[in-house]
Amino acid sequence: MSNKMWGGRFGESPDAIMEEINVSIDVDRHLFAQDIAASKAHAAMLAAQGIIAANDAKNIAKGLDTILSEIGNGSFTFKRALEDIHMNVESRLSELIGSAAGRLHTARSRNDQVATDFRLYVRDTIDAIDAALAAFQHALAARALEHADTVMPGFTHLQTAQPVTFGHHLLAYVEMASRDRGRFHDARKRLNESPLGAAALAGTSFPIDRNATAKALGFDRPMANSLDAVSDRDFVLETLAACAISATHLSRFAEEIVIWTSPLTGLVQLSDKFTTGSSIMPQKRNPDAAELVRAKTGRVIGSLIGLLIVMKGLPLAYQKDMQEDKQGAMEAFAALSLAARAMTGMVHDLTPDKARMKAAAGDGYATATDLADWLVRKLKMPFRDAHHVTGQIVAKASKAGVALDKLPLKEMQAIQPKITPEVFGVLSVESSVKSRVSFGGTAPKNVRAQAKGWLKRLEKEQK
Ligand code: ARG
Repeated sequence: MSNKMWGGRFGESPDAIMEEINVSIDVDRHLFAQDIAASKAHAAMLAAQGIIAANDAKNIAKGLDTILSEIGNGSFTFKRALEDIHMNVESRLSELIGSAAGRLHTARSRNDQVATDFRLYVRDTIDAIDAALAAFQHALAARALEHADTVMPGFTHLQTAQPVTFGHHLLAYVEMASRDRGRFHDARKRLNESPLGAAALAGTSFPIDRNATAKALGFDRPMANSLDAVSDRDFVLETLAACAISATHLSRFAEEIVIWTSPLTGLVQLSDKFTTGSSIMPQKRNPDAAELVRAKTGRVIGSLIGLLIVMKGLPLAYQKDMQEDKQGAMEAFAALSLAARAMTGMVHDLTPDKARMKAAAGDGYATATDLADWLVRKLKMPFRDAHHVTGQIVAKASKAGVALDKLPLKEMQAIQPKITPEVFGVLSVESSVKSRVSFGGTAPKNVRAQAKGWLKRLEKEQK
């Protein structure tokens, strides 16, 4: 049997290997809801324009609703011989309502159909990812407020640099997630135009109303060029690029959790809920979830690169290569969404070891900059000279094996006689973070205000 949908000029069935390489139903079945919504909008428009009879449109809509519930309750049989979701739905429609089903495809092609379905799908996905990232931000901001005063080492080059607050560190990821959400928001705005009615590539001679179908599907407007409408996948690329950046942010955080939970630093603990044991080493508590978030980023970036490579050689308009746009994208969307949810779980779960964090914050003369700043402020020294004097004091403390705030005043005065006992007021890690009140700085007061501001914004967003 040749294909019912397009087999008019075909005498033979496809070779088994042809069917195997051509079939996309395993992937595009996930577009069923969008496919049915788009078909309903198209049929209603065809009737309103007098292109098909109102009664046919009514039966089409009823049949499509039946199919939607059949797929929803698992009673629908997807057939590989029917290639893809579009032909599976149409074929079932004709079983349900007879020949009127054949009128649905008037003034439409699978090319504009799949472009429409996938835009709708990506739009829904963006909304779901946005919600997951908002939940991640909320968890971070809540923990940041709780730990506005918790002092931890801040790092550059993964060397102890200056003390920061744990809340401040968490809020850095709230900012990153906010820009990630902005990128998804931008992509959503640009993708929200309707390809439906572009037909195969050139438009149609039927008096269709593309504004009506665009509006019915929640698009802002129809796409202006039919060739572009059926042949670009930049909306997927742009969304994948946003996914890749967001996954990269999550991966950096995941890496920090791996470092913090390592016994080498012991800064943070994850509970049994977010760790696994070893089958041979009973003492182990492995941060698998964080490691997997880190690894899933590879899959997300890979999907972006994969689709860029698929697209880069394609002439206009539709080419079957584009059927390969969905699998990688869907995997990437699922990976990012899972990674965001896992990170949210870990943010709720983690317990910082405050004593250890504080001790580590003071290690390695982390308040040396505070001493140099004090010399500038109180003794009016140029910063470069203050840096030099501080370096000598650090060397002395290091040689004596004591922390900066434990070095006797006399020893400091031997290097710079004008240093007064007041200097000890800036040498503790607490005073160090408290002093960083510049906008965006790590002072607990700043962190509290920022965390509260974020919580308020995020909670308002939800209403
Ligand atoms: N399954 C196809 C895809 O995902 C639908 C479009 C088919 N169009 C065509 N001209 N063969 O791309």
